[in-house]
Amino acid sequence: MNQGLTIDQDATAMSAKSSIDNITANPYDALFSSVIGQDYYLLKQISPFAAEMSRLVGVTVSKFCADKTVPVSVVELGGGTGITSLSILTADEQLSLLSIDNEPIMQNQAKLSLQQWVDEGRLSFSEKDALSALQSLNSNSVDVIATAYTLHNFESNYRKQVLAEIFRVLKPKGQFINGDRYALNDISAHTRSTQNEVAGYFKVLIELNRLDVLEHWIIHLFNDESENHIMREALALQQLADAGFKQINLSHRLEVNALVTAVKE
Ligand SMILES: C[S@@+](CC[C@H](N)C(=O)[O-])C[C@H]1O[C@@H](n2cnc3c(N)ncnc32)[C@H](O)[C@@H]1O
Repeated sequence: MNQGLTIDQDATAMSAKSSIDNITANPYDALFSSVIGQDYYLLKQISPFAAEMSRLVGVTVSKFCADKTVPVSVVELGGGTGITSLSILTADEQLSLLSIDNEPIMQNQAKLSLQQWVDEGRLSFSEKDALSALQSLNSNSVDVIATAYTLHNFESNYRKQVLAEIFRVLKPKGQFINGDRYALNDISAHTRSTQNEVAGYFKVLIELNRLDVLEHWIIHLFNDESENHIMREALALQQLADAGFKQINLSHRLEVNALVTAVKE
């Protein structure tokens, strides 16, 4: 017997709207606002490669500065709690740094720990999101744009616009430096590597009895690995070329992490 399925159009519309509201109001969209932001220092223990990438960003900035006679201007995207900012600031005694981050829970920690450089007039902060902050900078005005573990969080269209803005803002011969999650081209190898990473999260955070942090990092990883976010090596390097960059180089690969540099010739 036909049960005569009827559709209440109003109810359907309301339910669709409430799902959209749920999606747009997703608390996990603010990726660094809760325990991840408050306890960001734990990343060092669950992902030792992240600390190494921050160090390498500093080393690369230092090499850029080595033969320069005037102070180098550096912009950092997603400065976070200041781990990579510190590595950049100590790379050269003269450089100035504008550190951009739109998550106050993260940036306030950097403001506290890096006050010394603010007092010296070498460090300033922007609370805008990366794209808006770049859009407010002049073309050909910055020597280096350095960043770590920020671009992989971006939705792919947003990232594309950010890359175009980075190219516009850099001076000729300026350098883009990024230590980040660059997904392996070999998808199976990438999955294995990510599985090992997740096993490491469990090992460390269960020992520390921080299941709250574990929950949030696992949820965060779903964002990183999602189709509209994942920053796969081949595509990422092609996007840099499409934006106009030359001398594009990926080095120091450590599992799903790598250092990428590119020059605006
Ligand atoms: C994984 S943390 C990395 C922090 C720091 N670079 C480091 O090496 O420790 C990513 C940072 O990027 C920031 N971020 C994410 N999306 C952003 C955006 N669209 N604009 C500015 N900052 C953003 C987050 O708030 C967070 O502080």
